[in-house]
Amino acid sequence: MENALRLQPFSADHVLVTGANGYLGSLIVATLLRSTSAKISCLVRSSHDDVSLLEPIIEECAAQGLPWNDGLRSRIIRVSLPQDTSTLADMVPSLANVDEVIHCAGCLDYYDVAKLEAVNVRYTKDLLTLAKKLTIKRFLYISTAYSSGYQNKVTPESLLDEPASDPTEYTRTKREAERLVATSDLPFLVLRPSILIGTRDTGRYSGKRYGLYQQWMGLERLICDRYHAEFHTVAPKLPLNLIHQDAFCNAFSAAYEWLPDGAFMNIVSAETTSPSMRTLWDMWFEVTRPRQVFYYSKMDDVPLKSIPTRQRAYLTFAQINLEIASHHWQFETTWIERLRNHGMDFHDATIDTVRICQSRFVRSSAIIEKYMKNFGDQLAKDLSFNEVDEPSALASEVKTL
Ligand SMILES: NC(=O)c1ccc[n+]([C@@H]2O[C@H](COP(=O)([O-])OP(=O)(O)OC[C@H]3O[C@@H](n4cnc5c(N)ncnc54)[C@H](OP(=O)(O)O)[C@@H]3O)[C@@H](O)[C@H]2O)c1
Repeated sequence: MENALRLQPFSADHVLVTGANGYLGSLIVATLLRSTSAKISCLVRSSHDDVSLLEPIIEECAAQGLPWNDGLRSRIIRVSLPQDTSTLADMVPSLANVDEVIHCAGCLDYYDVAKLEAVNVRYTKDLLTLAKKLTIKRFLYISTAYSSGYQNKVTPESLLDEPASDPTEYTRTKREAERLVATSDLPFLVLRPSILIGTRDTGRYSGKRYGLYQQWMGLERLICDRYHAEFHTVAPKLPLNLIHQDAFCNAFSAAYEWLPDGAFMNIVSAETTSPSMRTLWDMWFEVTRPRQVFYYSKMDDVPLKSIPTRQRAYLTFAQINLEIASHHWQFETTWIERLRNHGMDFHDATIDTVRICQSRFVRSSAIIEKYMKNFGDQLAKDLSFNEVDEPSALASEVKTL
């Protein structure tokens, strides 16, 4: 790994950003508008018009203290992505002034293998072919902290070995895309954020139902139509890496300016402050307050046949995320430390800041409001927590949350 920061900040005149209408893409475009003077061409599918492209960007700019104006608007150009990405190189004449590519488009659907392959691998390959025909200073790829797959070692800030297995085809295809970028002969940067959640001060979240929000929304929809006096779930005690979206923007901005070509950066919170899935469940039960909680450390231990159908449905729905949370993910954080020493404002997610996000989610949920109204008088004051490491060995503890 190159280990020194740049002596002068990186800058580009005209950046091509993919995925700009999506969650991370709009955070990135707003951050570029705030901290650079570059023109930004947003390569989006032809189904998007200016309104659907600009809406999340304008919202994020406002949240970052940058009121929208004509000057900002004039820096954004919407460019339609051809349906067949293998023809991307034909766009060279219209993109001749582009001197940096930020590739943020990606498929996050764990189950759609054909789409994961088409978007994460082939689109990346076709975009690299286009980038090689332009005169670019850098190709910046947004990967994921989980691209290592399941490995029993610290994820290095470098190209990854093949793991014994992957949680999903998502992680495999993201790792393959990283490899394509790193072996392209273009100057490159790979950023690997972990799971994004809302901002640490107010919990504002502008993404889709991914990660923790998928868990909360699944619970809201599958569980909160009735009071569950007993609740069975998988709750490993390993740290779960989450990062706040404002921390992501600050890390992106610092990495954008100061990381040398060829760097891979894990954008993750400190393991020591990260809550575990167990803590997240404890926090959730502060809201729904069952009388008895049964905690299992892995799916295989849960007696699926004998637990309430809705809880079984929930566990099946959340199975992959619960499996991911059962692995001890460890990350090298050399670049975070170095950028912090260089002045980057990056706050780790903690139990208290994640609670702010959960509280905002709960306050905004009509379903949970109804749950409180209908079942408020049944909610337990004292909750009993039972550890079920093996179905035969039961240890229990009563807590007043
Ligand atoms: N969310 C997280 O916590 C997180 C964490 C780590 C890394 N990431 C990475 O960040 C990137 C963006 O994720 P996100 O959370 O912002 O997701 P998102 O809101 O769903 O955005 C995905 C973007 O990719 C585009 N895209 C998807 N399929 C496409 C296709 N077939 N052709 C062209 N464009 C396509 C989408 O365009 P359409 O709107 O037209 O579909 C959208 O602009 C991904 O590469 C993901 O791996 C996300």
